[in-house]
Amino acid sequence: MKFFIDTADINDIRELAATGMADGVTTNPSLVAKSGRDFFEVLAEIWYVVDGPVSAEVTAMETDGMLVEAKKLRDVASNVCIKLPLTWDGLKACRVLTDDGCLVNVTLCFSANQALLAAKAGATFISPFVGRLDDIAVDGMDLISDIRQIYDNYEGLNTEILVASIRSPEHVRQAALIGADVSTIPPKVVRSLINHPLTDKGLADFLADWKKTGQKIV
Ligand code: G3P
Repeated sequence: MKFFIDTADINDIRELAATGMADGVTTNPSLVAKSGRDFFEVLAEIWYVVDGPVSAEVTAMETDGMLVEAKKLRDVASNVCIKLPLTWDGLKACRVLTDDGCLVNVTLCFSANQALLAAKAGATFISPFVGRLDDIAVDGMDLISDIRQIYDNYEGLNTEILVASIRSPEHVRQAALIGADVSTIPPKVVRSLINHPLTDKGLADFLADWKKTGQKIV
């Protein structure tokens, strides 16, 4: 499963890219606002740090406006992936951009039928928001399972499932078990994936026992 980093914070991206865990990056208008940075400056910096797809979301609501914004965003970097909302205008823009060889991430997906539409529109990625479904007492991972089953039923559906709105390591575990293609993970959750108290205790015990030997490797 690919890990995309879900942030517009270039410092977090640099740090996690150094671990080899940044197969791509996703941003959205809220994440850009949170960064307090100029959108195009941030995108250009992310491009230098990460080779994989960098999702940048349009803000126009009509297809023509989306395409104008997409052209400007694509001029920033070769690995820009255009993020489009799951609306009819977004799907029309998806088809045009996909046919033009552009990576497209259709976002704000909350149902299997929406995911089916995005795949039929040729989306590179579909972004189901699992955390926001959990927030309303709907199991977001059930949606990922449904989409995985539907996409696997048809050879012609080549859209990759990009699990978004991830809030915990459990989301990542379940996404991998289901066979999602990508998880886009907030930096804090990426860092927590490695944590286990028995690993910490086991290492401390190894080092304490080694110290008792009085030996050194170098
Ligand atoms: O990639 C989408 C993600 O940033 C949304 O997360 O926690 O605002 O639902 P959240």
